Amino acid sequence: MNKDAILKHLLLEKKRFISGAELAGKFNISRTAVWKHIKALEREGFGIEGVPSRGYRLVTVPDVLSKSAITQGRSAQMMGREIHLFRELASTNTVAMELARDNAPEGAVVLAEAQTGGKGRLGRTWISPAGNLYVSVVLRPNISPYRAPLVTLAGAIAVAWAIRKQLGIQANIKWPNDIMIANKKVAGILTEMSADPDRVKYLVLGIGINVNVEREALTPEIRLLATSLISETGSKIDRVAFLNALLTELEQWYTLLLEDDAAVLREWKSLNMTTGRRVAVRSQDGVIEGLARGIDREGRLIIELDGGAVHNVASGDVTIVKEEGPVPRGKGQE
Ligand code: BTN
Repeated sequence: MNKDAILKHLLLEKKRFISGAELAGKFNISRTAVWKHIKALEREGFGIEGVPSRGYRLVTVPDVLSKSAITQGRSAQMMGREIHLFRELASTNTVAMELARDNAPEGAVVLAEAQTGGKGRLGRTWISPAGNLYVSVVLRPNISPYRAPLVTLAGAIAVAWAIRKQLGIQANIKWPNDIMIANKKVAGILTEMSADPDRVKYLVLGIGINVNVEREALTPEIRLLATSLISETGSKIDRVAFLNALLTELEQWYTLLLEDDAAVLREWKSLNMTTGRRVAVRSQDGVIEGLARGIDREGRLIIELDGGAVHNVASGDVTIVKEEGPVPRGKGQE
């Protein structure tokens, strides 16, 4: 019996003291072994009150991701069925791709407290200090590679809904997969895949969410465009509970995608803040500007150029161009 089982029991019985003898009897170990496990949990940051005549009681849980705390609170069936947790890593996506290549099951999750080489879209770096969430999920959808962007859209819906349900904050999506709160980016998704010409072999959905790092800690340039959940709510987020909410949403939207992609596209459209706005899209081919009309069945952004021509863009970076408001009275040219 290991310390995780003891932690699970303390978490379940959070309010009451449990005596060393009760724990020893329950797990069929000596009271000295119980004491050693309690000390190990304290070293991991759990606050455990020990009163000689009464026993042990869990008082605080550290803001570190622990496999046992995640497993204990997990309600998803498939997402997180295997968890690979690291203190520090170059990139959770890279490790998840390696695990997938070595036959990791669908739903395996790679997590890191911090990344030293976090990867963003379009070859950018994802700055990854401790305190946020860096999650990569291995998926094995039986779909053609050209439909893979739809999995990313389902991922963006899942992140937006985890924020909405768990924290009651209005999160929206900026095409293709930036999760925004009040026009500031709070999360991003990078999908990588290995595919045959007609079938995806495996795919890794990598999600980075700014959670417990305050906006003030971001560099001045990033601070203008980004936010974090702690800055939006004003209080520290329970990352384990949030992660579990995210895994549940991911499972739900990914499952729906495989059954009914039109339903997922409809949901994406209702959460998206790009349609109907004037946008500039930067891609390898340059910048085009026009009115965002929506997305097509493959998740490409439909842009109507000023001359009326329509372009469907597969990848790029969207900036919402400031729309001209009505001219204030008295200031316009008569
Ligand atoms: C973006 O540019 O918006 C996408 C950012 C994706 C970052 C996440 S963090 C977890 C996973 N591992 C990585 O190296 N990147 C993704």
